[in-house]
Amino acid sequence: MEHIYFSKQTNKLMLLDQRFLPLQEKWFECGLTTDIVYALQEMVVRGAPAIGVTAAYGCVLAAMEVGPVKGWKKAVDEKTEQIARARPTAANLEWAVGRMRNGLKGRDFAFADELATFWLELALDIHRRDVQDNRLIGSLGAVLLSDMDTVMTHCNAGALATGGYGTALGVVRAAVEQGRKIRVIANETRPFLQGARLTAYELVRDGIGVTVACDNACAHLMQKGLVQKVIVGADRIAANGDVANKIGTYGVAIAAARHGIPFYVAAPFSTFDRDIATGELIPIENRTPDEVRYINGISILPDHVEVYNFAFDITPAELITGIITERGLLKPPFGAAIASAQDLNLSRNRL
Ligand code: MRU
Repeated sequence: MEHIYFSKQTNKLMLLDQRFLPLQEKWFECGLTTDIVYALQEMVVRGAPAIGVTAAYGCVLAAMEVGPVKGWKKAVDEKTEQIARARPTAANLEWAVGRMRNGLKGRDFAFADELATFWLELALDIHRRDVQDNRLIGSLGAVLLSDMDTVMTHCNAGALATGGYGTALGVVRAAVEQGRKIRVIANETRPFLQGARLTAYELVRDGIGVTVACDNACAHLMQKGLVQKVIVGADRIAANGDVANKIGTYGVAIAAARHGIPFYVAAPFSTFDRDIATGELIPIENRTPDEVRYINGISILPDHVEVYNFAFDITPAELITGIITERGLLKPPFGAAIASAQDLNLSRNRL
């Protein structure tokens, strides 16, 4: 599923607008930095790796927008900083902008449009490699699934949340490609309904069996023996293995531990943040109360009632069975496992 692409004819970034799925497949066109920031903040595109890929293309647009003017370096820097700050939780956003900036080391460009040409190749490479990593995560994680397993997932960690193929759904896809029969329970994921709208949309398109359940059905479904494994994605993983992911993930992990169900996180190394020691230091996005207050424009709450709308929560490392990465399955103790995977020191990652 190609849901992010850069048109070299128009110099625009095209995003499949996730706000309208599954009812309408509309495309959102980005030509300016402000379009990119809007698309990220309003969740035209969402999911940590997809946010990173979009940010990389966003840097290209920023350089094109500035053009051949005096003081272009500072202007490009300010615009890319706006992109890096668009949402706080997903590590991939800063990672991607950092990769674009690091790519400039030792190079000199006369004008911003030369830089844009160079950056476009780098952004395409970040995009391509994200898909490759997801396929690796998929094939390395697929061995954890048995024939006839039902996998619960929370939010959407599929093709739409990444450059393509998906992390948590990539593992499911790879197991199905290897010939196993797998079903998925997609938690609906209030308030943006990534599970109901996006995960179900992707799996239906692939012909993979999916059942949507309300978030508050999770423990009951586990108690009834309907769930064999949980696999979720991640927005940021601290150095000790604590994981920030969509609000509700922590509750799913607690319920899985109570029922002895393996709880896996699938994520590329661009989601790991070595500078953050533990989960409590991860910035959690607090979104507008209106996302909770209104359904299809209709208020479901008494006037003036306060709302919590934290977009993410932290699952402590001790509740996680394993973290499936493109470099293999990391097992507890995660601090040591993450550090030694970092020591592989693959040049493309900042880790
Ligand atoms: O607010 P969102 O939709 O950007 O949150 C997305 C998630 O929490 C995903 O689970 C996470 O980014 C992993 S995507 C592979």
